[in-house]
This record gives sequence, C-alpha cells and structure tokens, in this order.
Amino acid sequence: MEIKKVGILGCGLMGSGVAHVSAANGYETVVCEVSQELLDKGLGSIQKYLTKAIARKKATVFEKRMIADNLTGTTKLEDLKDCDIVIEAITEDIKIKNEVFGKLDKLCPKSTIFASNTSSLKISDMAKETKRPEKFVGLHFFNPVPMMKLVEVVKTATTSDETFDAAMQYVKTLDKVAVPCKDTTGFVVNRLLVPYLLDAIRALEADVASPKDIDNAMMLGCGYPMGPLTLLDFVGLDTTLSITGIMYDEFKQPQYAAPELLKKMVAEGKIGKKSGEGFYKY
Ligand code: 3HC
Repeated sequence: MEIKKVGILGCGLMGSGVAHVSAANGYETVVCEVSQELLDKGLGSIQKYLTKAIARKKATVFEKRMIADNLTGTTKLEDLKDCDIVIEAITEDIKIKNEVFGKLDKLCPKSTIFASNTSSLKISDMAKETKRPEKFVGLHFFNPVPMMKLVEVVKTATTSDETFDAAMQYVKTLDKVAVPCKDTTGFVVNRLLVPYLLDAIRALEADVASPKDIDNAMMLGCGYPMGPLTLLDFVGLDTTLSITGIMYDEFKQPQYAAPELLKKMVAEGKIGKKSGEGFYKY
C-alpha cells in the first residue's frame, strides 16, 4: 500500500502544519477547510512560517517551492475523494469528527486510509462509526509540526497491519520519529504532559511564584525549552480545557481536573497567544 496523495481535513494550527510537512516531502497534498476565509488564513500561516524560517535558516527555498508545487486548498470535501490517506485535524468534538468521517466514508474508495490527529479522543470511537475500521489509525503530530520530530502512531484493535505499516512508513518519509501507541486517551505525551501543565496553573493559583518565575524555574531547573505557562498559551487554554475535560471523564483522576483559574480565563476569552492574552500578553 503506497501513499502518494494526502488529504488533510482542517487548516488550523495542526492541519496547516501537517499539510506543510506532507507537501514539503513530496506528497501531492490537498487541505480542506469549511470556509474560504479559514482556508486563506491557514495557507497564509504556512507562508508566514516559511518566510521567518527561511530567514533563520530553519527552512530552505527548496522546501518553499515543494510546498508551492504540491499543496492545494479546497472548501469541498469531494476534493479529498481520491486521496490515499485523509488526516483529520478539526475540532476535538467526537460528534463533528464522526459526521465528517461518515461523509468521507461514502466519498472515498475502500483503499483510502483514515487518520485522526486527535490528542485526547479514542481512535476506536471514530473507527467503529465507519465501514473501514481496519483502515483507521491515529497520527498525533506536535506543535509546531514542521519542527517537532514526534508523531504518535495509534493502532486500534481493528487497525490492519497493512494500514499501520503504511502509516509508519508515511511518518518516516516526513523525517519524523514514530512512536507506536495503544489507543488510550492522551496516548503517551498528553497523559504525562496534561497533569504537568495543570500543576503549573495550580502552582500559580497557590501563589507559589509569578508566571515568569514558574516558567523560568522549569526551563532552567529541568531543561525544558519553554515554561509550562508559555506552552499553555501556545497550545491554547480553550484547547487545553477541552482536552482536560475528555481526560477527566475517562480517568476520573484529580490530576486531570481543570483548575478554577483555567476555567475562569477561558470564560474571559483569555485563551492564549491566538487571542492576544493568556498567562502573558502578546
Ligand atoms: N506551538 C506553536 N508554536 C511554537 C511552539 C508551540 N508549542 N513552540 C515554539 N513555537 C514557535 C515560536 O513561537 C516561534 O515562532 P515565531 O517565529 O513566530 O516567533 C517558532 O516556533 C520558533 O521557536 P523558537 O524561537 O523557540 O525557535 P527554536 O528553534 O529555538 O525552538 C522549538 C523551536 C524546538 C519548537 C522550541 O520552541 C520548543 O521546543 N518549543 C516547545 C514545543 C512543544 O513543547 N511542543 C509540544 C506542544 S504540546 C502538543 O503539541 C500536543 C497537543 O496535543 C496539545
């Protein structure tokens, strides 16, 4: 099973990143958004990223040309119908995801692999709603996608070996490292990362130190590239609250319960970098 054409559902932070790395590595790539406005915004963010990255020698002009040659955008789901794999990177809402996969199931041939970039939902809860559970995998990328080496590759009880091998091979050709994971809420990274991020908010609530000092402590004391509160601002407090809710429902353990400060900030619209304010102002 060879992947040649890649479809991406969603051109937000994650979708645009996956579209970027697929096109840059020679895959014919089609990215689909619900509106022209969101599509233009997502494609624009790839161009902005490239301009900065080339200036800092973190990307090449060749990469930019590969993306220009291989990447197209669309607002029509039908344009994904002849893809060998479709990777979903839309909102963390199982109902919406299943609705879109249901439509794609009718549009795409039996051979098309379906993948979800979900960070907290179970892959099997999407796979079982389609007529191709053996063709369903999880592909969880990390932000910023062009820079982060890891992809968690999730095999469910129904994923065929052929599908899993094709997904692993695809990840390898993106010059990323695949970590195979069991289909369990949060996989490896979010299972460990989410309690840590929430503990940083709890430390702030307990007035242990200022946001800057909490971040500096973890960067200088533990060698993290960025402090937990900065990382929360990058991930988005709304996204984190949603992930937290799903993980708490699954595990019922206090380390996954959303701190009051997180709920308050989301209610006030202070959801991080994308809104101009989170734990810091942007
Ligand atoms: N999300 C979005 N953008 C990020 C980011 C992140 N987590 N981390 C860094 N960036 C952006 C920076 O803002 C910067 O953008 P700019 O050019 O517009 O200012 C650009 O990436 C480069 O960052 P640096 O200046 O720090 O460049 P470096 O080359 O020194 O380092 C890095 C890049 C290796 C990406 C480093 O910043 C890093 O390790 N960041 C933390 C990344 C991280 O922890 N990612 C995991 C997020 S959790 C996740 O994705 C799971 C999800 O399910 C919640």
